[in-house]
Amino acid sequence: MEGSAPLDVLSPDAVSRVANALARAGRVTVLTGAGVSAASGVPTFRGPDGLWRAHRPEQLATPEAFARDPRLVWEWYEWRRQRIARCRPNRAHEVLAHWSRRLAGFTLITQNVDGLHELAGTGHIVRFHGSIWELRCGVPCARGRFPWRNESVPLSPLPPICPHCGGHARPGVVWFGEPIDPNVLEASVAAARCDVFLVVGTSAVVYPAAALIPLAADQGALTVEINPEATPASALADFVLPAAADVALHQIDLVLGAG
Ligand code: OAD
Repeated sequence: MEGSAPLDVLSPDAVSRVANALARAGRVTVLTGAGVSAASGVPTFRGPDGLWRAHRPEQLATPEAFARDPRLVWEWYEWRRQRIARCRPNRAHEVLAHWSRRLAGFTLITQNVDGLHELAGTGHIVRFHGSIWELRCGVPCARGRFPWRNESVPLSPLPPICPHCGGHARPGVVWFGEPIDPNVLEASVAAARCDVFLVVGTSAVVYPAAALIPLAADQGALTVEINPEATPASALADFVLPAAADVALHQIDLVLGAG
């Protein structure tokens, strides 16, 4: 592990070595989490802002919570949709969007459901946990298993209704205890075979997303973590840049641009 600079004061050596590795890489994969959107004003899950009306995400983002009280679950998602609808991509999203066009073999795997990477114009995205801007049938009925887009803010009625069967619709996101779409998992595992694997703004505690980090490291990728806090991924990383995502990615991009 290298780079132990205080918050937002990054070692120029670590930044330039990461930038050089990115410039030389044939395949680059980035795994993002809620910290990437923090500077846009989207609350993270496990920070002090993570609680909503004293509920933890783990209590609300489950099939059991939805079966018990769909309205409560939808009120939380509606609150998040309203917050996110006011947010714009920050410098971290912009740099990653730029790299998706510029760097060879680029894949972005995001755990975020906020859509800000897409709004920034990022290509080659794998949405590991779905999208808060999609709905599907919560029953589920046969036709409503396929998600549909709904960006209305506010949503009405709440809970929304499946247009196919009239049952309750649910958010098109992955909940705790639910499997990842096999195609998404396959694309993510394939992307973990890369030259540089960047882990940005995730607490690295939610599986199977977190398992991609040791998978990439075991297959020989140079692993880089960008996060102001230490996580379980820190001990695995070749470089740890202990800074906010917008600051660290901007600094790396400056060096890349100069090269
Ligand atoms: P968390 O809320 O668990 O972690 C956010 C991480 O971002 C923490 O490690 C923070 O230290 C870091 N962070 C905060 N501000 C940052 C900044 N400005 N720049 C960089 N990093 C910053 O969010 P995730 O790891 O994304 O799943 O959570 C993983 C999954 O758990 C989510 O996708 C969601 C959640 O429950 C589902 O909804 C299934």
